[in-house]
Amino acid sequence: MANSKYEYVKKFEMDDKLPACNWIIVRIDGHKFHQFSDDHDFDKPNDENALNLMNSCAVSMVEHFPDIVFAYGVSDEYSFIWKETSQLYDRRASKILSLSVSYFTSLYVIKWKDFFPHKGLKETPCFDGRIVLYPRAKIVRDYLSWRQVDCHINNQYNTCFWMLVKSGKTKKEAQERLKGTLAKDKNELLFQQFGINYDKLPDIFKKGSCVYKDTVEETLKPDNGGNPVKRQRQRVTVGHFNIIDDRFWDEQPNILREN
Ligand code: GTP
Ligand code: MG
Repeated sequence: MANSKYEYVKKFEMDDKLPACNWIIVRIDGHKFHQFSDDHDFDKPNDENALNLMNSCAVSMVEHFPDIVFAYGVSDEYSFIWKETSQLYDRRASKILSLSVSYFTSLYVIKWKDFFPHKGLKETPCFDGRIVLYPRAKIVRDYLSWRQVDCHINNQYNTCFWMLVKSGKTKKEAQERLKGTLAKDKNELLFQQFGINYDKLPDIFKKGSCVYKDTVEETLKPDNGGNPVKRQRQRVTVGHFNIIDDRFWDEQPNILREN
């Protein structure tokens, strides 16, 4: 019914269009995953299946939302970078955020059995989400560096903490032992006490995970003249790279290229 006397209620809705020319970061984070990981008996400090499940959801996100140029994940969180020129959903914050969070959550539930075939999903996983805008690619890089530094610091601490607990210390004792220690002290502790060389731990734990679209050349069946036919194809890549140094970005200049 057009133009009913009730139409005026629409005027109360807020315009939440994001300003133009800003890179859009959508960061989602598992809600109470401390409890969720205990309920599902995740390996400590890192559960490779749980991380790969998050990565698989991120790959599907990048395939589903064409304007996501890069995603970075660690632990129960994932950041999705939308290009600054994106006009999807008219740049409406509520659309972008709510669809991102609900799509990711559905993927997590649907894919669960592929990564945990012998573990039922006991609780309902849910994720919170926020949007942060950055006006320059340089700041997006600093944002990603911040997340990767956090990944390193947390992983180093958690690796020490759980090794101490597994060796018989209480959680409180492990906490006390680690209080005030520097990175080099933690590396030393892991090596001296547990024979672990931190540098040799898997990159997925130390560096987190990157997801982005890459162009690859594939060779198709030869044409009628017997000549090989080549074609450029976009594929979504997952890797565990250093995204603080320039090297990765020098090799992938298109990801954060400003328009
Ligand atoms: P909120 O995000 O505030 O709702 O709380 P949270 O409990 O999710 O904590 P936060 O996001 O700060 O930290 C993530 C938590 O998820 C970690 O502290 C771990 O307890 C848990 N977690 C994430 N990944 C893993 C994993 O691979 N193994 C295990 N054992 N736990 C994990
Ligand atoms: Mg969380």
